[in-house]
Amino acid sequence: MARHTPSMSVMVSAARKAARGLQRDFGEVENLQVSLKGPANFVTAADRKAEKVLFEELSKARPGYGFLMEESGIVEGSDKSHRWIIDPLDGTTNFLHGIPMFSISLALEREGQLIAGLVYNPIADEMFIAEKGQGAYLNDRRIRVSVRRDLPQAVVATGIPHIGRPNHEGFLAELTTVMNEVAGVRRMGSAALDLAYVAAGRFDAYWETNLAAWDIAAGIVLVREAGGFVTDMKGREDMLNTGGIIAGNDMLSRKLGDLLKKAHKPGT
Ligand code: IPD
Ligand code: CA
Ligand code: CA
Repeated sequence: MARHTPSMSVMVSAARKAARGLQRDFGEVENLQVSLKGPANFVTAADRKAEKVLFEELSKARPGYGFLMEESGIVEGSDKSHRWIIDPLDGTTNFLHGIPMFSISLALEREGQLIAGLVYNPIADEMFIAEKGQGAYLNDRRIRVSVRRDLPQAVVATGIPHIGRPNHEGFLAELTTVMNEVAGVRRMGSAALDLAYVAAGRFDAYWETNLAAWDIAAGIVLVREAGGFVTDMKGREDMLNTGGIIAGNDMLSRKLGDLLKKAHKPGT
């Protein structure tokens, strides 16, 4: 059984409440899919509603904590040592297209250190949680990163830049290098879930660049507490500021990091 601190109980109940709205709205998306206007505005509203629920629930339970949220940005709190980092809907493109692969991502920082992370997929009802020093859990079952040590056996997840996003050429160089060495590459469309899947040993490793803090903060805690390693693209731990991330077990995260370096410096 997972040992929760009271803060994690607060996180779980806020996420479940926000998820109920997302579930309802996801059902609606299918109807709107065939309407002339399409579901785009509706999805933006669903996203904002979920964030509002999280904000209200967490503010009620922990008055004074600060917030960093995808939709509403920064809300300073009177308590300067605690901050929630929230993506109310990670995987918006999937949600918009009726693809049931998205999540709520919620992390807690204390004195600038990530101490708790939750990633919830409401459609699969998979609740991934972790607190510093307490291990990582999926629906109350302990999870660990995979034990595979060799790239040819590894399934590696990533994110593909799209219209309006930078680094298309850089990504293609990375993919060309990585796909030649691994068992398979996956693109699921939710960075938070990608990291949760690494924590659960489903993906052996994961990399992506140009992410925001709310995409990865919760997942970082999950991977670390599942016994994995997380670095930025330079092998440092500045993921939240650089937006680059490499995650996996000790061996594979290192091997993937080396490959990605090679992708940008061919001939080395
Ligand atoms: C996106 C997802 C996706 C990643 C994108 C993110 P959003 O978040 O995490 O997997 O590749 O870069 O922006 O926009 O769905 O919250
Ligand atoms: Ca996101
Ligand atoms: Ca989002």
